[in-house]
Amino acid sequence: MDPKGEDFDSELFRAVSRDLWEDHAAWWQENFTDGADEEYVEQIIPLAIDQLREVGATRVLDLGVGDGQVSRAARESLEGDVRFVGVDPAMLQLRTASERGGIDLLLRAEAKELPFGPSTFDAVMACLVFEHVVEFETAISEVSRVLEPGGSFLFFLNHPILQTPGSGFIDDVELGEQYWRIGPYLVEDLSFEEVSKDVFIPFVHRPISRYVNAIAKAGMWIDHMAEPVPPEGFLDKAWEYRAAKDFPRLLFIRAKKVGGSVG
Ligand SMILES: C[S@@+](CC[C@H](N)C(=O)[O-])C[C@H]1O[C@@H](n2cnc3c(N)ncnc32)[C@H](O)[C@@H]1O
Repeated sequence: MDPKGEDFDSELFRAVSRDLWEDHAAWWQENFTDGADEEYVEQIIPLAIDQLREVGATRVLDLGVGDGQVSRAARESLEGDVRFVGVDPAMLQLRTASERGGIDLLLRAEAKELPFGPSTFDAVMACLVFEHVVEFETAISEVSRVLEPGGSFLFFLNHPILQTPGSGFIDDVELGEQYWRIGPYLVEDLSFEEVSKDVFIPFVHRPISRYVNAIAKAGMWIDHMAEPVPPEGFLDKAWEYRAAKDFPRLLFIRAKKVGGSVG
């Protein structure tokens, strides 16, 4: 299926995506969880914990929970009685999350239709999930619906400006130039990226404005944003990563559901 071809059908993309996450859950878990990935260990998990602490979360929805690594680490670090609920469409992610423990309730669901009533949570966290979600506007309005007024949406994305499809470090030996190439940013793009041999992962690229506007339309306001320098452990892996250290890989946005006390 060519996601840019005339016969492209986003419903089909969605169905294939669901199968791919099921097929490659083990690949994800082996390479990115349980301490295998420096960006999670050194950056994403600590940032998530800091943010959950700062907003005083007590009822957390981990949307696209995967193996549960972020919530599990947060549970160990946070003081007080904090409850974690995880949802994911992939059974093999949920099964591992259940085996590894630390989450109070795991449910099979997609971001576009969350199986909870209004105002159920005071924090919803989505770590590297929305770049795989086709119906992102519906999903963001679902996040807002299940948040109580004043509740926080903690939104982590692969940086959409600097990590667009086709972006990357270029070492042009002939011209003697090294630079960071940025692929088309304004073009919304659905693709199946071969991230490892025979491992195709569905990606949806969209400009940041689409997320920001969807967040605003859903009745949330952004009160914090971060674009951290890639962590040392990642930069140490290859000279070209260090050479490209000024191009963030991660974008973090925190938004609050309108209606609660500001603070
Ligand atoms: C890159 S993994 C991140 C997992 C976890 N959030 C973490 O940070 O460790 C993306 C996860 O999103 C889930 N996912 C994919 N499409 C989804 C959708 N439409 N709704 C909710 N989760 C989805 C996948 O099954 C996968 O577990």
